[in-house]
Amino acid sequence: MADFSEFANDIKAINDFLENNAFENAENSIVLDAMNYSLKNGGKRIRPLLTLYFSELFSGDHDAAIKLGCALEMIHTYSLIHDDLPCMDNDDMRRGKPSCHIAFGEANALLAGDALLTEAFFLASQSGISPQNTNLAVKYLSEFAGVRGMVMGQVLDLKFENTAPQLNDIKKMYSLKTCALLKCACVLGYLTGKKADNAQINKICEYAEDLGLAFQIRDDILDIISDSQTLGKPVGSDEKNNKPTFVRLYGLEQSKELVNSLTENAISVLNSFDGHSNKLINLTLALAERKF
Ligand code: IPE
Ligand code: IPE
Ligand code: MG
Ligand code: MG
Ligand code: MG
Repeated sequence: MADFSEFANDIKAINDFLENNAFENAENSIVLDAMNYSLKNGGKRIRPLLTLYFSELFSGDHDAAIKLGCALEMIHTYSLIHDDLPCMDNDDMRRGKPSCHIAFGEANALLAGDALLTEAFFLASQSGISPQNTNLAVKYLSEFAGVRGMVMGQVLDLKFENTAPQLNDIKKMYSLKTCALLKCACVLGYLTGKKADNAQINKICEYAEDLGLAFQIRDDILDIISDSQTLGKPVGSDEKNNKPTFVRLYGLEQSKELVNSLTENAISVLNSFDGHSNKLINLTLALAERKF
């Protein structure tokens, strides 16, 4: 059974950091309220957990991993705020509360997203890792989040509405909109270690690609079989927007099998690293079975 209790202490460390350190010295405003509303006390914190566990796997710096993971969590949160806007998925609930634009209006939600994205780079500049690895962190954050990554995935997601793309196109969309930020999370953790090596980064991305595909397919399954109270966001969003998904293409049962086989692949990549991480293996398994 998927059980997140094993990660509770680490999630608390992430939430405590965000609670006490995010947006330090920023002047009070309605946009700051919107940023706090969306970022704090919500979300599974999967991306910072991955940063933390990859940092541990490569004997990296714990505090730097928390900062970089939280920087990425800000980018992820901005992507959710914008994803929920009426011009995108038009969803009125997120993380168990009214979506940002419902609570604060569309203009403030837009600005809160913009400011979260920018603030992420401020925090990333403060992580304390070497200048060389800080450069790499900035490079990967921008590549995986921007027009070469998540944003491009969202472009394809919108483009494919009301169409029936081929499997490879759906895969590409998932890889960009979802896997890219998960890859970024894992690579950031790696960068808190000593020196970066491309072959290692490629292998880390191989893991996160399988994990991310499984994660998005599970998200699409939950959009059909779950309820909004458990999920903290509306169900039936994909059908409402006529989004092509793996589940549309293959049905629920085959999609569940696909989640399992991608999860097995992800774990076999994990097992090929020199070090061993029970937490990473268990997180990968828990995500495949998650109910929310
Ligand atoms: C939701 O991500 C967006 C997808 C990529 C499916 P999460 O399921 O990680 O959302 P939170 O952070 O827990 O709210
Ligand atoms: C979201 O995919 C991916 C993002 C980059 C935000 P979805 O649109 O399926 O995510 P949810 O279901 O709204 O969380
Ligand atoms: Mg979407
Ligand atoms: Mg959505
Ligand atoms: Mg979804």
